[in-house]
Amino acid sequence: MKPKVFVTRMLPQKALDLILPVCDAEIWQEELPPPRDLLLSKVRDLDGLLSLLTDKIDATLMDAAPKLKVVSNCAVGFDNIDVPAATQRGIAVGNTPGVLTETTADFAFTLLMAAARRVVEGDRYTRAGKWKTWGLTVLLGQDIHGATLGLIGLGRIGAAMAKRAKGFDMRVMYYDPFRREDLEKELGITYSDLDTVVRQADFVSVHVPLTNETRKLVNQDLLSKMKQTAIIVNTSRGPVVDQAALYAALRDGVIAGAALDVTDPEPIALNDPLLTLENCIVAPHIASASVTTRTKMATMAAENLLAGLRGEKLPTPVNPEVKQRN
Ligand code: GLV
Repeated sequence: MKPKVFVTRMLPQKALDLILPVCDAEIWQEELPPPRDLLLSKVRDLDGLLSLLTDKIDATLMDAAPKLKVVSNCAVGFDNIDVPAATQRGIAVGNTPGVLTETTADFAFTLLMAAARRVVEGDRYTRAGKWKTWGLTVLLGQDIHGATLGLIGLGRIGAAMAKRAKGFDMRVMYYDPFRREDLEKELGITYSDLDTVVRQADFVSVHVPLTNETRKLVNQDLLSKMKQTAIIVNTSRGPVVDQAALYAALRDGVIAGAALDVTDPEPIALNDPLLTLENCIVAPHIASASVTTRTKMATMAAENLLAGLRGEKLPTPVNPEVKQRN
């Protein structure tokens, strides 16, 4: 009998071609994620689940899934999954690291540049009919070349961001709980404590996973240490930034601007005060959204799913130590 799997959203055909021949698969076809109740009832007889970051995979859900052997998340982040609970229950968890690094860094740099040079505001200005003539002081922004980029987090994506910044002749500083002297040499970047990084940076870009330690890491205190001309970019997870504190800092001119690909919650409420600000760009969590990368992510997630169903070690495991249930 083929293993029973549920895929919580439509995937690119290349990934479906891997799954469909060998699984009894149900693919959720809607734009919105499957409702919690439905997911809870679906998992009852599942062997495998391919999830997105919008699906909450917690202990309650796992307890409703006595046969579940693998949860394959089609994302590099896995804060939507209670990994210790999965490990305890013998459920392998996979993610999709590596394939989205460059695409995500491309977008983080895009946001940095868009905020620095006020691209989104400029487009609104044009469409509103405000463009009357070439003006010497119209929509003045910040220079990117020669500026200092402060990275919070130097994982794969943070390092890829540093590479881009060096191409723009930026000075790059970083803070990470794990110092990477190898990358400091390779990329020509410097390590500092968090305080120094945010005080000296013209641009702060956040590249940390969401954990108990990083929740609201960017708070009022941290924002108050940034330069008044500084811009913050967040392509990590929304809850890493205290959104109310960010709003106040942008409104009061504590910092100059923000560009976010992630918010808390997602989607951001249409009446969120951040959306009333000219100096804040909000993208709908699309940093990894290139055709090629999303196909690679889905294929990788399919491969993790199938390996888990066969009881093999996942190609990119989150909990490699798991003793998988039969
Ligand atoms: C996207 O945010 C991801 O974690 O892959």
